[in-house]
Amino acid sequence: MDFKEELKNYQILIDKELNKYVNKEECPEKILNESIEYSLLAGGKRLRPILMLATYKMFKENIEEVFMLAVAMEMVHNFSLIHDDLPGIDNDNLRHGKPTNHIKFNEATAILAGDALLNKAYTLMSEYLKKETDANIFKKIEALGLFSESINKMIIGEYIDTEYEGKMITGEYLEYMYKHKTGALIKASVQIGAILADASEQEIENLGEFAEKIGLAFQIKDDILSETGKVEVTGKPVGNDKARGKSTFIAAYGLKESQEILDIVIKDALEALEGFGKKAEFLKELTLFIENREK
Ligand code: IPE
Ligand code: IPE
Ligand code: MG
Ligand code: MG
Repeated sequence: MDFKEELKNYQILIDKELNKYVNKEECPEKILNESIEYSLLAGGKRLRPILMLATYKMFKENIEEVFMLAVAMEMVHNFSLIHDDLPGIDNDNLRHGKPTNHIKFNEATAILAGDALLNKAYTLMSEYLKKETDANIFKKIEALGLFSESINKMIIGEYIDTEYEGKMITGEYLEYMYKHKTGALIKASVQIGAILADASEQEIENLGEFAEKIGLAFQIKDDILSETGKVEVTGKPVGNDKARGKSTFIAAYGLKESQEILDIVIKDALEALEGFGKKAEFLKELTLFIENREK
C-alpha cells in the first residue's frame, strides 16, 4: 500500500471511531452536542491518533486495542483548537474552512464544548483501563500519566503563547513554548503507542526523540503556512499570527531561516528513526508529509 492510501485509510478509520462518540439524541443540551460534533468531525488531519496507531503498529498488529486512546487524544486536540480560536486566545474566525466554533455557536457553547471534549477523553481513558487488552495495568497507568501530563504541557504552551503576544521572546523560550503547546500531545501520542505495544525502553526513548522533532517541525510549518499558505487550502486565516503580534519562528527568524530550521529538524527526525529500519517506513513518510503539507 502506498503512503497516501495508508494515510487516507487511517483517517477514515479514525473518523469512523470518532463518530461512535457523537451524541445525536434529542435532549436539552442538543446544541452543545452539535457544537462538539461540529468541531470533532470538521475534517482534521488526525495526525495525533495516526501517530499513536502507526507507532503501535511498528510492534503489534492489533491496533484496535488502542482505538479508544487514539480517539481520546483527538478529542483533546479538538478541545485545544476550539479554545485556541476563542476571542481571549487567538480570536480566529475560520478553521477547516468554516466559522470557528464560537462564531458558529457562541462563546459560552464553545468553551463548554471544549471542556466536554476534554472530559469525554478521560471517560474513554477510564473505559480503556477497564478493558481487557494485551497491555498490563502498569503500562496502561503509565499511558494515562503521559496523556494527562501532555495535556498540562499543552495548556502551559498556550498560556506562554498568549503571554508573549506583542512581546520579544528569546529563542530558548520560543522553543519551550512549541515543545509544550504543540510538541507535547504529539510526543505523548507516539510514546503511548510504543509503550502499549511493548516497545523496549530504548525504542521508547528513540521514538520520543523522533516525536520531539516532528512536534517542533509541525509548529514551524504551521507558522510558515500562517504566513504563506492559501486560505482555500489551509482553511485557516492567513496573516493572523503577524496581525496579532504572535511570537513565532517567522517573527524571530524570518521566513527563509525558519524554512532552513525546518529542514534541519526534519532531517533530525528522520535520523532518530534510523535504527528501526523498514518498520519505520510509514513514520518516515509521515515526517516528509509534515514538512511538505499545504494544510
Ligand atoms: C493545528 O493542528 C494546531 C497546531 C498544533 C499547529 P493540526 O494542523 O494538526 O489540526 P487539524 O486537526 O489537522 O486541523
Ligand atoms: C495551536 O497553535 C496550538 C494548540 C491548539 C494547542 P496555533 O494557534 O499556532 O495553531 P492554529 O494555527 O490556530 O491552528
Ligand atoms: Mg491559533
Ligand atoms: Mg494559538
